[in-house]
Formats: sequence, C-alpha cells, structure tokens
Amino acid sequence: PGATVIDHPLVQHKMTHMRMKDTSTQGFRRLLREISLLLCYEVTRDLKLVDTSIETPVSEMNAPVLAGKKLVFASILRAGNGLLEGMLELIPSARVAHIGLYRDPETLEAIEYYFKAPADMNERRIIVVDPMLATANSAIAAVERLKQRGANNMCFVCLLAAPEGVQRFNEAHPDVPIYTAAVDEKLNEKGYIVPGLGDAGDRMYG
Ligand code: PRP
Repeated sequence: PGATVIDHPLVQHKMTHMRMKDTSTQGFRRLLREISLLLCYEVTRDLKLVDTSIETPVSEMNAPVLAGKKLVFASILRAGNGLLEGMLELIPSARVAHIGLYRDPETLEAIEYYFKAPADMNERRIIVVDPMLATANSAIAAVERLKQRGANNMCFVCLLAAPEGVQRFNEAHPDVPIYTAAVDEKLNEKGYIVPGLGDAGDRMYG
C-alpha cells in the first residue's frame, strides 16, 4: 500500500523545473520526456530475464533477454502520452493501450471517450501511465477497464500524486502498486494537486 517515491536526484531536479510556472511548453515537454526515461528505468527493474544462446564475434554464450510477451504501456489521454513517448524510446517493442478519459469539471468524475487495447492483455505486464494522480478517479477507472479486458499484472506510474488519490487508488486496486516522483500536500477544492505543477495536459498541449 501507499506509493513508491522515485527519489533519484535527476528525477527530483527535473520535477522542480516542471513545477515552475515560468517553464515554457517546450521546456515542460523536454523535461517530461527526460523524466519518463528515468521513471521507466526504475519501474522495469523487476522484469524477468531468460537466458538465450547467442554468438558473439568471439564465441558462443548464454546471455539474458527479457522473458515473456512484450509489455504494454497503457496511456491515459491526453497527458499520459507525454510519459508514453519517452518510455517507448527505452522499450520500442512495447505494445500500447490508449484510454481516453477527461474529468468532468463539476463532479471530477472520469468520463471515457476512447478505449483501445491490444489482445491477450491477460498474458502481459502492463504499465499504466498518467502524470497526475489527483482524486484518482481517472486512474481507478482506467485500471478497472483494463481489468475487464483481462489485465492482471499492472503497475501505475505518475509524476505527482495527492495523498487522497494514493489512498483511494490503494483501496480500489490494492493489487496495483503506484510509482511516483512526488506525493504532494493535498488536493484543493477544484481537484488540483497543491502545490503541484498545474494541469499537465494543458502545460503540454495548451
Ligand atoms: C488530468 C490528468 C489525469 C487526471 C487526474 O487529466 O492528466 O488524467 O486529470 O485527475 P484525477 O486523479 O482526479 O482523475 P484531464 O482530465 O485534465 O485531461 P487531459 O489529460 O486530457 O488534460
């Protein structure tokens, strides 16, 4: 339960620059791409390896490669795509699921407008990505939807979480660990993370 905070100094440094209100769209995007590489590196530490026989220019050997089926990145639109792009650079063979959700500005409920996922989700490791975990309505709904499609081996990766969101997500999906670069102080009455970094989707796309 709770969330694993990725406290790597480069991640923390980049997060601070993403929080600054004067960081431009261009700067924000570049930082998001860089940070996504570092987060991806951390959350894939536990992937299983299997030995395969290869030939180097010198001799034969048994060498490790990733075991099992290709993993899936599940991106919660829009802002999830910022994390997705960097992660795909590190794992270009990954499959991708897209889940379109927006928060109703009044109720903060997650409303689905798009869903497309690869087949055989039950046989793959799935990394769900979205920069923000605020009320957790979006993340809870996305994971619920992926479970309906058979997903049973998931983690959730974000940049920034509110304590309220971590708790609600843990209660809804105790089997899905959360990785984040920071857990902030609270949610405000509009459902924004405080101090936060604003709305990640707006800062990336306008
Ligand atoms: C933001 C953010 C998350 C969600 C988090 O998306 O990118 O998806 O809100 O809030 P929650 O935990 O309270 O559900 P938004 O609805 O603004 O859509 P966008 O990414 O398309 O801008």
